[in-house]
Amino acid sequence: MKGIILHGGHGTRLRPLTHTGPKQLLPIANKPMSQYALEDLKKAGVTEIAIIIGDVYPEKVKEYYGDGSNFGVKISYVYQDAPKGISHAIRLCKDFVSGDRFIVYLGDNVLRKDLTDYTKKFHTSDSDAMILLCEVDDPQRFGIAELDKDNPGKIKKISEKPKDPPSNLAVIGIYFLTPKIFDVIDKLKPSWRGEYEITEALQLLMEEGNKINYDTVTGWWKDTGTPEDIIHANKLVLDSIGTEHQFLIDKDAKITDGVVVGKGTTITSDSVIAGPAIIGKNCKIESAKIGPYVSIGDNCILKDCNIENSIIMSECTIDSKTYFSSSIIAHGSEITDSAKRQFLLGERSQLKL
Ligand code: TTP
Repeated sequence: MKGIILHGGHGTRLRPLTHTGPKQLLPIANKPMSQYALEDLKKAGVTEIAIIIGDVYPEKVKEYYGDGSNFGVKISYVYQDAPKGISHAIRLCKDFVSGDRFIVYLGDNVLRKDLTDYTKKFHTSDSDAMILLCEVDDPQRFGIAELDKDNPGKIKKISEKPKDPPSNLAVIGIYFLTPKIFDVIDKLKPSWRGEYEITEALQLLMEEGNKINYDTVTGWWKDTGTPEDIIHANKLVLDSIGTEHQFLIDKDAKITDGVVVGKGTTITSDSVIAGPAIIGKNCKIESAKIGPYVSIGDNCILKDCNIENSIIMSECTIDSKTYFSSSIIAHGSEITDSAKRQFLLGERSQLKL
């Protein structure tokens, strides 16, 4: 079986973070979110992977994943000139798939449970597609499946962001497919939002008499379209981060369980690290309170601050008697004290004081 990771799109809801890179490279617990997809595929035995890259810094994706050898997989890249929809992106992979069954994983989806069982189920079934469903509170935001009450185990209809949802079962961004999907995609027209929708392709596949089955997701699933989603995903992943202290922690520093600290990081004795939290390599933590639910990238300096439920990317300096929560601070940012308030904010920055 082959795998496809979607790494295109514009990520407009995540600006300004996506002005300088694709959203799927944004870190969750210090790892690019698309790496969770790649690792899930690899764990399910899928090592031949195509990554769809779009027009938002595609070279950064190639630079990070390369030919896949550092990750134990073989990667090829397929370029999508504009975000014309998930079905459009899948259609570009027809040659790559070449008759095989395959799994499509949206690079901004994160799943608690790995894919091994689902992959086995699909592999041994005679179905033409398999989707995964997850109960959500806000079904208007998602592709929604209506189950057939008269035929248990069957799907009646799949619709994209319905105004009047027939159920709260969202179709998550991991699709188990066969090459039959390509013929169906060729018949699609762009939707009202100008995209070739995956939900329409699946619906048409069913209408043409093909067999689609489903499984329900146990554990959590997160689609990380907005900053709030990313902070929530960070929390969910950190909940099972474990404990790993590598070097140079001052023996008096108060560090709870569920904290991972990278090599070369120093933490002074008057600091408190309340897990779950992850701190990268070569950071300096001085008189600071960090956590719970904080991810800090490599080479950061954090002094005097009190941070909860946030993502601080690498090379940041926060040297200020300040408290903040539910925040995302991108690479190389600085927050320092000053007699007068002074800001240098990039386009579409958000500051809630
Ligand atoms: P979306 O979240 O629907 O779109 P987006 O990433 O452009 O975000 P926004 O709505 O904030 O502008 O995309 C879902 C996933 O599919 C995401 O990982 C990006 C990917 N994708 C592509 O690779 N190609 C596409 O044409 C589209 C629409 C999405």
